[in-house]
Amino acid sequence: MNDIDTSDLSWDDWDELQRPAAEETDFDAVVEGALSRRGFLAGVLAFGSGAAVMGTASLMGSAAQAATSRIAFKPLAAQTDFTIHVPEGYSWKPVAKWGQPLFSGVDDLDHATGGALETSDKVFGENTDGMEAFTVGNHQLIAVNHEYVNPKINLPNNEGGVPTSADDVRKLQNLQGVTVMEVAEGENGWDIVKDSPFTRRIHQNTPMKIAGPAAGHNLLKTDADPAGVEVLGTMNNCGAGKTPWGTYLTCEENFNGYFGSTDANLELPEDFGRYGIGHEGRYAYEKFDARFDLATTPNEPYRFGYIVEIDPANPDAMPVKRTALGRFKHENAACVLAPDGRVVVYLGDDERGEFLYKFVSDGVYTPGGDTSTLLDEGQLYAAKFNEDGNGEWVALTPEATGMSQPQICILTRVAASKVGATTMDRPEWVAVNPVAVEAYCALTNNKNRGLKANAGGDETPVGGPNPREANKYGQIVRWFPAGDDHASDSFTWDLYVMAGNPTVGEGLYKGSENINAGNLFNSPDGMMFDSTGLLWIQTDGDDDNEGEFEGMGNNQMLAGDPVTGQIERFLTGPNGSEVTGLTWSADKRTMFVGIQHPSAPFPDGEGKLARSTVVAVKRDDNAIIG
Ligand code: FEO
Ligand code: CA
Ligand code: CA
Repeated sequence: MNDIDTSDLSWDDWDELQRPAAEETDFDAVVEGALSRRGFLAGVLAFGSGAAVMGTASLMGSAAQAATSRIAFKPLAAQTDFTIHVPEGYSWKPVAKWGQPLFSGVDDLDHATGGALETSDKVFGENTDGMEAFTVGNHQLIAVNHEYVNPKINLPNNEGGVPTSADDVRKLQNLQGVTVMEVAEGENGWDIVKDSPFTRRIHQNTPMKIAGPAAGHNLLKTDADPAGVEVLGTMNNCGAGKTPWGTYLTCEENFNGYFGSTDANLELPEDFGRYGIGHEGRYAYEKFDARFDLATTPNEPYRFGYIVEIDPANPDAMPVKRTALGRFKHENAACVLAPDGRVVVYLGDDERGEFLYKFVSDGVYTPGGDTSTLLDEGQLYAAKFNEDGNGEWVALTPEATGMSQPQICILTRVAASKVGATTMDRPEWVAVNPVAVEAYCALTNNKNRGLKANAGGDETPVGGPNPREANKYGQIVRWFPAGDDHASDSFTWDLYVMAGNPTVGEGLYKGSENINAGNLFNSPDGMMFDSTGLLWIQTDGDDDNEGEFEGMGNNQMLAGDPVTGQIERFLTGPNGSEVTGLTWSADKRTMFVGIQHPSAPFPDGEGKLARSTVVAVKRDDNAIIG
């Protein structure tokens, strides 16, 4: 590694630093790589008419946009300040901020210390991300992820935020994971219901069960768990999902970054390279917690990277890792029922050149029936997109991969490489339209497209749903399952939008026709449909508002009409933040939106620590908004 401060790098840039491109040998080259490359235009044009024509001809045209607009708000201009903006006639208020007490007797955040260790598992965690609302009786619950920590903020008195003790590590571990909380709306808006019987913090030391084909496999066994069936904690909980039976799915994404080795010369298994697990962790956990030290507990990384099912209605129920849904950098888990009642879960693996997956259960869901093994028994597939607009889901079977069923579930990336799945531009959230049989995936960006293979050596050719070399802006691909059946093994696809900049971009970098000066954005990430079939798009991209990103402003949330292709900006986040996580109150009069890693002074003002925050957005006339 190097002695340069890497704590402010995004997770994908941090991963890139562990595995630089062959021609990149120093830190600056890696960090500045995307900005310094200028060869993408020639690359795209050289690829010829295939990608370029497919990419634009299949996109929403301006004629379609002339249809009556479904978008009922006055679109916002791009913003660059330190607060949230919503359209005229709407307002927003914080509901839950990092460090806010979930129980009485716990103090609100002490900005001088970043909060006490003793109460760090009794407060709303750090870096809010995916979330889902649940109604249990007359209780409004929200389950919400806390993806990672910002140690400089959470440990403000440690130099560089670097943990120097087991207590520091424990505090960081407590601030991540999941919060299940009850919220209620009063005269002053929404607030946390302290001491609700449903309130629960699930963190990096919470016991959970391992289920599905990989449970009990040798790779999952440790000294502390010789049977390989129970693990402590969930980590890097990114996007989320909700099952038809009312449980929450939390998704373990960049788990690799938590592990390190106190023995710098320790030989690591080859598959660690595929998953980005190396000798140095991001938070120095390995120095103070042996579970994260590869020299002591070499199998612990195989116990992370899964989808975890949590029952918000039952605070005593142990969370369950569902290994049948594969092990990779899980973004979210979008559930839908096939016409015959089988459960389909779409799953993205967020890393440059990795894959898009889906799981189809063997059993069918029946309301009130036993759901305890629906996510344990079924078939996992990886997506193959063909240039001609068709595609197929390739089953990851022992026959197709030469791997055993548990191996497929543990080394899923390797299995998908073996069947020749399509390398994608970082699949983030998948969203399933509730009023049409189609699904969308945000491909956030991929500076390596056409330039560098993925960690498994799979090439990343320009074309298909990934039509731009060194893709800085991202796009949204959608697919239409054959026979209007999400369980079908084939589909047709097109691009819903290619983000870009018509003013300063060239060629495909201008973006698709439904991109205009009024709706510029980059790096689509969080994505949810509301109940009416409007697509809400959240961004996690470059917010410097300069050069290729000029006119895009801060990260934001937009609404997209799937039929006309019209996309308009609805909300802008504070400077430095990512807008991620979206759900609705039971009456659909409130939209809950997550603001992750804002810069100070959001939201508490000058001199205070920045706090990631879930906010409530409402129409001033209290009408339904989704
Ligand atoms: Fe946690 Fe890929 O975003
Ligand atoms: Ca994300
Ligand atoms: Ca992202």
